[in-house]
Amino acid sequence: MNVADSELIDGILQHEGYKQTQNIDEANAIFINTCSVRDHAEAKVHSRLGNFNRIKKNKPEVIIGMLGCMAQNLKEEILENKPYVDIVLGPDSYRKLPAILKNRLKEQKHIVDTKLSRFEVYDGLFPSRKEGINAWVSIMRGCDKFCTFCIVPFTRGRERSRSPKSIIQEVEQAVNNGFVEVTLLGQNVNSYKYDNIDFTDLLKKVSAIPGLLRLRYTSPHPNDVNEKLLEVMAESENICNSIHFPLQAGSDRTLKRMNRRYTKKHFLKYAKKIHDIIPGVGISTDIIVGFPGETEKDFQETLEVMDIVKFDSAYTFKYSSRPYTKAIEYDNHIDEDVKKDRLDRLIKLQKKHSLFRNRAMINQVVDVLVEKVSKKSDEYWSGRTDSNKWVVFQKSTANIKDIIPVRITAAHGVTLKGQIEGK
Ligand code: 5AD
Ligand code: SF4
Repeated sequence: MNVADSELIDGILQHEGYKQTQNIDEANAIFINTCSVRDHAEAKVHSRLGNFNRIKKNKPEVIIGMLGCMAQNLKEEILENKPYVDIVLGPDSYRKLPAILKNRLKEQKHIVDTKLSRFEVYDGLFPSRKEGINAWVSIMRGCDKFCTFCIVPFTRGRERSRSPKSIIQEVEQAVNNGFVEVTLLGQNVNSYKYDNIDFTDLLKKVSAIPGLLRLRYTSPHPNDVNEKLLEVMAESENICNSIHFPLQAGSDRTLKRMNRRYTKKHFLKYAKKIHDIIPGVGISTDIIVGFPGETEKDFQETLEVMDIVKFDSAYTFKYSSRPYTKAIEYDNHIDEDVKKDRLDRLIKLQKKHSLFRNRAMINQVVDVLVEKVSKKSDEYWSGRTDSNKWVVFQKSTANIKDIIPVRITAAHGVTLKGQIEGK
């Protein structure tokens, strides 16, 4: 989401004639786009802002702006403790940036705008994308689910969907600019709804755009995953066989306290449907350990769900308290060392499952999109499978952006090794 928002901000500024520089010391304005989802991300921003302050000491006229969720969440603290930050803009205020920059240059005052909108979807504005394989296309913003650990509904506001027309226009433009893969983005991507068009309808429409080789999306909520969506994914050539299916926790007690609105049984039922309906699918997930009140027994249930589903990969987090959220008020916050111990055990189990899933692919021939020269050596390429796994293989006469058949020969950790088939 943040890459997409940064590209949008870049697009807005470039449209007004501003240019990006690779050398921060040359910049007349420095913006940092921020995320508040976990406190770890916030800590990094504080440290970056400290660097910008040092730059400003040598060059007082430089404008420093903090944009995005942290601006929304921490504006008072920033204004009070970081007076060198000139501009603070929340995620619904990016359109105002050019006008603010002009005024700021005249007036030299602090400018803060963190009002959330019920309508802003940035229709009609085109992000400035770096050349590459994948274009991120935002289709909806905000979230109305209010999971009790999550700050997003407070920093990004109410759920709103972009018109299919403007989404299709943006995807067509991305394809014309050479992007072969598109990832549709939203905090809660599959609760997309515009007039009578739902997420599955939109996915079908976008997948029909000529020249689009691969279509992905993230992040869905398990409750909005239905059979119709899975069948469309299975039927369509270019919709990738890969799904992010965030578990968060395995015990019903914790799920209820998280306000996730599904049970372990429902989650397992749909995980099975995903595997049954979409052949060769890759499933990734998000899991939080140490949610307030989580007992060892609750945690064991998370491990149990993992053992049944055997996710291909997982983003794993220690619970951290976020402002405004309901879970802050809960009793029985878990000690840091218990959280760490649970996270270690969870990661260990996930590594085992990733290896299990990857090893099952050995000897299979899969379609790989050639994406870049491998970090390993100039003689190798890396690309992703439809199921979203990285494969490293020796170069051939094919080109970057081609989809080619690759035989998987080995599986180490998260990466697969392969050989171009027919070579
Ligand atoms: N603590 C830990 N992890 C969190 N996430 C969201 N909020 C928190 C929090 N307070 C994780 C969830 C979500 C992912 C984007 O970040 O797993 O799916
Ligand atoms: Fe946060 Fe996702 Fe829950 Fe929305 S659905 S509140 S974005 S975790």
